[in-house]
Amino acid sequence: MQDVKEEVGKCQKKLRRALLNIEDYHQQAKETLQQMAYDYYSSGSDDQLTLIDNQAAFRRIKLRPKILIDVSSHLSIDSTNCKVQLLNSTTTIPFPCIIAPTAFHRLANSEHGELATVRAAVACSTIMCVSTVATTRMELIADEYRRQIKDNYPDSHSQLWYQLYVFTNRQYSQNLIKRAEKCGYKALVITVDACELGNRELDIHNNFSLPDGIRAENLIDDNNILAFDYPNVPYDSSLSWKDLNWIRSITSLPIILKGIIHPDDAREAVKHGVQGIIVSNHGGRQLDTCQSTIDALPDIVKAVAGSSHQIDIYVDGGIRRGTDILKSIALGAKAVLIGRPVLWGLAVDGEQGVRNVLEILKREFRVAMMLCGCQTIDDIRNNNLLVMNKNNNRSKL
Ligand SMILES: Cc1cc2nc3c(=O)[nH]c(=O)nc-3n(C[C@H](O)[C@H](O)[C@H](O)COP(=O)(O)O)c2cc1C
Repeated sequence: MQDVKEEVGKCQKKLRRALLNIEDYHQQAKETLQQMAYDYYSSGSDDQLTLIDNQAAFRRIKLRPKILIDVSSHLSIDSTNCKVQLLNSTTTIPFPCIIAPTAFHRLANSEHGELATVRAAVACSTIMCVSTVATTRMELIADEYRRQIKDNYPDSHSQLWYQLYVFTNRQYSQNLIKRAEKCGYKALVITVDACELGNRELDIHNNFSLPDGIRAENLIDDNNILAFDYPNVPYDSSLSWKDLNWIRSITSLPIILKGIIHPDDAREAVKHGVQGIIVSNHGGRQLDTCQSTIDALPDIVKAVAGSSHQIDIYVDGGIRRGTDILKSIALGAKAVLIGRPVLWGLAVDGEQGVRNVLEILKREFRVAMMLCGCQTIDDIRNNNLLVMNKNNNRSKL
């Protein structure tokens, strides 16, 4: 009897616990997900030092707010204070936060997977970057996107971007690009930090595999055969800068390179005429002890400043609070991408969970802007709000 009471008490406590922030969603997702799926989503490579440092680096940066500035316009219902323009002003989103490409959404939500995520993206008027290894066909995601805009959110600024892993079979990669173009994806995000899969030891311990009925649907060929199975993915390890010319020649979509950490590579990307780069270390899942992304950002911004060809700089990795977004913008990012927070939302409550995660970050970002005395996004860039840790050797910023 005592045991039953304790169990009921625990359940009631769980039900009552409000999910106020991304870490609350993380903890709830941990309780909800199968161990193998949770480990796959949450872990990093080797000793997971980069994974940890992505978040820790944001915490090392302190804010120096400005006061007695009228920030009341943030409170109006149709406030546009957080709006940003991307890709040469061809795209506007109301809040600088984009859904990063992550694999296998049906592991978090077996019924709807990526369809739940795209519904949330449309509802929250943001961009969803769809992974090559999505568990829903890219055409179905695009259909759902259009249906949501038409039936429910005609004013949404949401867009779909397509993330490409270039595989050894170039024809195969070309077909993926063509399919994405045909069904209306608006940018091609090429992941360039995956010439080999990072060493993810938890997945090896767990002998990670997808449950029956869940597959990387975009990699199914005409004969209904999976071209290859995770983790045996034939990433093209010969991919190099010259191949960008080939990709450019087969698509007119804007190209964004995802996975840049070194300033020289940022300069090279500018030379190759891409439209954007994402400062990313793949959420600490590829090269361990790689520099954290927010620490890498300032040198990259400096490297491309003043070039005649202007590109968008985005950052991802460890963004868990509105203040992290504000710090990213202050250091020169146009917008941030979030990976795991979306997966936690999806695991906890499907479409609604992803919407909640995006809304939490938006609310936190707005409050952070107000408390820093920022009326506009430009104020975040211009108000000299950051105090960098001296150990980062950037105390002047
Ligand atoms: C479970 C998981 C799967 C991912 N799958 C992909 C992918 O398919 N393609 C890709 O370019 N990046 C992938 N990433 C990296 C994310 O796009 C992003 O860089 C990273 O998650 C950002 O860090 P965060 O999770 O701390 O927000 C994945 C990340 C995670 C956690």
